[in-house]
Amino acid sequence: TEGEPGALRTPIVAVLGHVDHGKTSLLDKIRGSAVHEGEAGAITQHIGSTAVPLDTISDIAGELVDPDDFDLPGLLYIDTPGHHSFSTLRSRGGALADIAILVVDVNDGFQPQTHEAMDILARTGTPFIVAANKIDTVPGWNPEPNRPSKVAIESQSDRVESDLNERLYEIIGQLSSKDISADMYWRVQDFQSNVGVVPVSAETGEGVPDLLTVLMGLSQRYMKDEMAIDVGGPAAGTVLEVKDTQGFGTTIDGVIYDGTIQANDTIVVGAKPNSIVTEVRALLQPKPLAEIRSDEEFEQVSEVAAAEGVKIAAPDLDDAMAGAPIRVVRDRDTSDVVDLVQQEL
Ligand code: GTP
Ligand code: MG
Repeated sequence: TEGEPGALRTPIVAVLGHVDHGKTSLLDKIRGSAVHEGEAGAITQHIGSTAVPLDTISDIAGELVDPDDFDLPGLLYIDTPGHHSFSTLRSRGGALADIAILVVDVNDGFQPQTHEAMDILARTGTPFIVAANKIDTVPGWNPEPNRPSKVAIESQSDRVESDLNERLYEIIGQLSSKDISADMYWRVQDFQSNVGVVPVSAETGEGVPDLLTVLMGLSQRYMKDEMAIDVGGPAAGTVLEVKDTQGFGTTIDGVIYDGTIQANDTIVVGAKPNSIVTEVRALLQPKPLAEIRSDEEFEQVSEVAAAEGVKIAAPDLDDAMAGAPIRVVRDRDTSDVVDLVQQEL
């Protein structure tokens, strides 16, 4: 696919929300559903992200998603921490995202980091949907594992249904008090002017099929043009974290959202006062099934193409900053690329 013009990359989906509202559990559930559908291994854990291919989305969503209707390759999810001290990472995740899921616990409603996440999305102009999570905790909920939530809700007792609706309308009200017109996703006609609320349970899986369907539909309809990339071109990415990796010293965990990065590339990484110009020493990705703890958690790869997560080992990364741009120089003048990076800081 190298250099293929007009190729479409995977949209990047940030998962944002208050601490403990279930962001990580929701991603775990999506992974679990893939395993359930016999798609173990189809979902790959990247550095700081989870890639879910279209065929897997279609298997989980059942008749809701026909892969023939889509030409985007899938979705790449970025988990973010909800704890108040991680506002930089949330902000980076939000800025990097093409689209976002705002996770709200139906019992807790809007909390400080929910508001903060919404401010980030407004500032960056990122379209989002709301996952109203933990619907299984409504007293008397009768689990309908992994079914679309619209169907699962209809099969509950009247009491449970009205109890849940009360909480959902509370959330819709909180959105509208922030001047955001929102409704249950099945009533939304125009997702550009209305935010869809998808009731879900990260515990029992209700709503996961609809959540993936709505995201995929939104991406396809409104973001296709933005996903057209120059696959073989020099990579552009964002630093998510700067950390020590055994055997490699200071490394950066980043997400590549355009082009490709190769193991022998010269890169520019944003830093103050001067951006870093350095040579890639290794591109690292988690070994498949790296759950088994071993000394070699990562494998070296020769190339990474958008959109993917990657750990980059290179000299002189100590001053790299979370959120800073990463640019591959390739056939360009290093000083031009440095200027480009400085402008973005
Ligand atoms: P941070 O990363 O710390 O911001 O939290 P998080 O949003 O990733 O929340 P996490 O997924 O860690 O879930 C927090 C707790 O809520 C865990 O104990 C989960 O098991 C529980 N939980 C998450 N989703 C659900 C759900 O849908 N139903 C129920 N019953 N529990 C849930
Ligand atoms: Mg989490």
